[in-house]
This record gives sequence, C-alpha cells and structure tokens, in this order.
Amino acid sequence: MTDLSHIHRFVPGNRHEAAPLLLLHGTGGDESDLLPLGQSVSPGASLLSPRGQVLEHGMPRFFRRLAEGVFDEDDVRRRANALADFVNDARKRYDLPAPIALGYSNGANIAAAVLQLRPETLAGAILLRAMVPLSDAPTVDLAGKPILIVSGQSDPIIPASNSQQLAVRLAKAGADVQHRTLPIGHQLSQADLTVSQEWLRGIELTKDAAA
Ligand code: MLT
Repeated sequence: MTDLSHIHRFVPGNRHEAAPLLLLHGTGGDESDLLPLGQSVSPGASLLSPRGQVLEHGMPRFFRRLAEGVFDEDDVRRRANALADFVNDARKRYDLPAPIALGYSNGANIAAAVLQLRPETLAGAILLRAMVPLSDAPTVDLAGKPILIVSGQSDPIIPASNSQQLAVRLAKAGADVQHRTLPIGHQLSQADLTVSQEWLRGIELTKDAAA
C-alpha cells in the first residue's frame, strides 16, 4: 500500500478484542519482516507494518544515524512525528484503535521516540533491543501506558546502562515499564517471542479484569 505516507502492509485481524500491533522493523528490514513475529506474539491481532523512509546504503531505517548508536536527533524528531501522523491516518483508513508498537532495534528506537514526542499515538509498546533515542526528550505524560523493554545481556550495540536509562525515563514519565534482560546479544531469539507473548497476555487479562 502506498497512498498513505509510508509504504506498508496491513493484515486485518479476526480477534477484535486484541490491540492492533504496529510493527517496526530493524535496520535493513522492511514491511514484511516482522509479520510472522506479530502473528506469533498476538495471534488474530490486526498488524500494521510500515517501512522506514530513510535509506542507509540501501537499507531502510526509521531515522538517520551519524554512527552506530549515534543518532541525528533532529531527524529522529521529524521522522517520529511523521510516523505518528502515518499511524493516525492508517487508524482512520483501517478503523483501528491505538496500536501497541512492536519494534526491533531501530524500530524499537523510533517507537521510544514516538512515546516521548507523541504519546497518544500508542496504547503501549514492546521494545526489543531499544536504546535512548533522544538526549533531551520533552517531559511527557505516559501515565499507565504498558511498556516492555527486552534487552540482550551481551548486546554489542547497546550498553546495559543505556537501555536501563531508557527504562528509567519512561517509568519517570508514568509508564508501567517492565524491563527484561535475556542472556543473548542483539539478535532476536525465541525467548523474545515468549516474553512478549506472556507480557501481552498479562495486559489483556488486566484489561479484561478492569472491564
Ligand atoms: C539504531 O541505529 O537505531 C541502533 O543503532 C540499532 C540499529 O538499528 O542498528
């Protein structure tokens, strides 16, 4: 689909009580990459999967970086706002409630930026291998927003202190943050899937109990 601002795929769900997932791929991925993960994490949920609009040596990303782990923060802001606008337009087009982001690496980082710049865009987020995307994010109200951060203990790209700092910042803004560290590196593993599924099930049970 190309007539919204981002090239994307939309897979309608058949489990209408499940929050839609906004799938955000890593560097070099595309809109098809995370569909299998999304289907496994939340079977029957609608999936909205855009492609990042920046190219780094031909590899799609969601924002520019100056070096590995060093971000062009003006671009992070601009692209996070554009992504939030895309999500709002796609919600109207496909008649969706606010999605839960499921982002990996660069996709997790743009999701963290959207949470800090346009918090109303997302109902929550699963951030796999995320780091702090903005050194001076504005003060924002994330009261009660469920966020799962899954880090890799031996991740060569993301120092433990950085993902910890992200968790602290989001929690200070009021989000309900769970931070898990797995005994793995930057790559995704089966454990990411299991941890994400369990966390999402917990969110759905909490919602059911409150209804
Ligand atoms: C980023 O650029 O967002 C992070 O360094 C992770 C990556 O995509 O390699």
